[in-house]
Amino acid sequence: MRTVHTRAELTAARDSRTGTVAVVMTMGALHEGHAALLRAARERADQLVVTIFVNPLQFGPNEDFDRYPRTLDADLEVCRAAGVDLVFAPSAAEMYPAGQPMVRVDPGRLGADLEGGSRPGFFHGVLTVVLKLLNLVRPDLAFFGEKDYQQLTLVRRMARDLDLPVEVVGVPTVREPDGLALSSRNRYLSEAERRTASGLSAALLAGVAAAERGDDGSGVLAAAHRAFAATAPDARLDYLVLTDPDLEPGPTSGPGRLLVAAWVGRTRLIDNMPIRLADGEPLAP
Ligand code: PAJ
Repeated sequence: MRTVHTRAELTAARDSRTGTVAVVMTMGALHEGHAALLRAARERADQLVVTIFVNPLQFGPNEDFDRYPRTLDADLEVCRAAGVDLVFAPSAAEMYPAGQPMVRVDPGRLGADLEGGSRPGFFHGVLTVVLKLLNLVRPDLAFFGEKDYQQLTLVRRMARDLDLPVEVVGVPTVREPDGLALSSRNRYLSEAERRTASGLSAALLAGVAAAERGDDGSGVLAAAHRAFAATAPDARLDYLVLTDPDLEPGPTSGPGRLLVAAWVGRTRLIDNMPIRLADGEPLAP
């Protein structure tokens, strides 16, 4: 495995590669969720590239950029064990040599909703760095976790809308035994907060169970809200919504997505699950 820090080294390494190239983009602090992406990518690629970059552009002024965990040595171990070929770990100056970029990717309407509603500019920052990294790495495949479902949806949308020559592949969420989705931010949680944090997945699971019982969308949401309040009474809910698989409002039947965001102490957590609503009764004539 090679580790490079500059775009010149990356380009040189890229130009000497043949076969199918896959990229897994990360902000480091790698855990089993990232490892699942590495495994999925390893299976489909001849050359596996990992990027490690805590992207300042996607952090708001009052967010955790400074305290975001940085664990490069341990991350390189995870990459080595997963059979990664090349790690690109640039500095902020290397990625943004002219400082803040003037031109950014506009995520459109969906970028202002859900995560974008609570974190203005977040998806401009995410899509801009994702596009830059795609241009630098030039992969055939790019793997993203369903854990960040809105991010995955917007990256797919960007690839389609801007004709990017890359296949975007989604990977299911990896969870702790109690359901908590793995996240680099979980390490901020105290023991008590850690118990509260399981309320997010408990809410989603209650919604999924309600759908399996045949409840409609409002029944699903009510069940999810009840479970959240019961499991995480001291968390502050940001949103708990039911959408279609493309994050459009609805649906009333068939496949959908249940998404949640909440503050547990000073830590903001997100989670989501696929859901299937029973086919509705045909409308009376
Ligand atoms: P980061 O939070 O480090 O996540 C990197 C990738 O790992 C993302 O695709 C994310 O969805 C995936 N991931 C995180 N936790 C996961 C879990 N529990 N199960 C499955 N996949 C999981 O997402 C980012 O970084 C950044 O926004 C980035 C795309 C790198 C742009 O800066």
